[in-house]
Amino acid sequence: MKNRVSITAEFAALIKAKDNPDYLYFVSPKTRYISTIVSFIFSKQFLDKIFRWRQQLTKEIDSIVERERPNLIVDLGSGYSLRGYTFCRKNLDLVYIDTDLPDVISNKLQILNKINRIKRVENPSNLHLTVLDVLNDDLQNIISISNSRAKILILAEGLTSYFSLNQLQIFFDNIYKVLKTFPEAVFYSNEKMKEPGGILYKFIRKMLSIFTHSTGHSFDDKYDFMKYISKWEGLVCEFEDCDSGHLIYKLKFQK
Ligand SMILES: C[S@@+](CC[C@H](N)C(=O)[O-])C[C@H]1O[C@@H](n2cnc3c(N)ncnc32)[C@H](O)[C@@H]1O
Repeated sequence: MKNRVSITAEFAALIKAKDNPDYLYFVSPKTRYISTIVSFIFSKQFLDKIFRWRQQLTKEIDSIVERERPNLIVDLGSGYSLRGYTFCRKNLDLVYIDTDLPDVISNKLQILNKINRIKRVENPSNLHLTVLDVLNDDLQNIISISNSRAKILILAEGLTSYFSLNQLQIFFDNIYKVLKTFPEAVFYSNEKMKEPGGILYKFIRKMLSIFTHSTGHSFDDKYDFMKYISKWEGLVCEFEDCDSGHLIYKLKFQK
């Protein structure tokens, strides 16, 4: 059964398709239909503005990966992102673990196989697709079964924006445990700050959160987030980008 949260993966794919048409394989007719209705209601200029930051987020995380040069990447809630698929082809020494909820992982496997067939290529053997629910499963298990001495990069792009305060607590407990166990590991993610985009933007987010049954928590600003994260003793937070009301940050454990 398809869960409602996974529709957010399709919307992310739809936005990314502007830069890479392969993403269209992941967008169902239903999501295309909803996006057509949305494009009738809102002006192109307004939608472009929303999409631009989302595309920017993907590009910034891509450049973080290039800069950090890890041996092992664990992508949490990777959805239909083709980052692992692309980076694994460029770097055969990299191990990339794409993780998400069961229906997204099985759908992604099928669609990647379809893309491979069409392009007449093999799936990169260094890319692994694994089911992981970050709110119920222990993230540490994923890493301990892999190479624990590797330079580890943990990513979460657009994952936490749908989490309530309670869910964030569970999520960061999970992240904390793994960063404490593997002090060489670094974690990059993004948070939304209190609405940067005005009333229409608020409206769209509200509709999406009702549809996906999620009530994402917004931090007031980067200081609010910094204060929140200081509850986990030893976690050091660095800001990558605080533009347009959104925040990209890095977390690391330091004794
Ligand atoms: C907005 S999408 C982002 C997907 C991808 N990171 C990207 O940028 O294209 C959010 C993803 O988080 C996943 N997700 C939501 N709750 C999750 C959970 N508890 N554990 C793992 N993944 C989850 C959804 O299935 C979805 O694929």
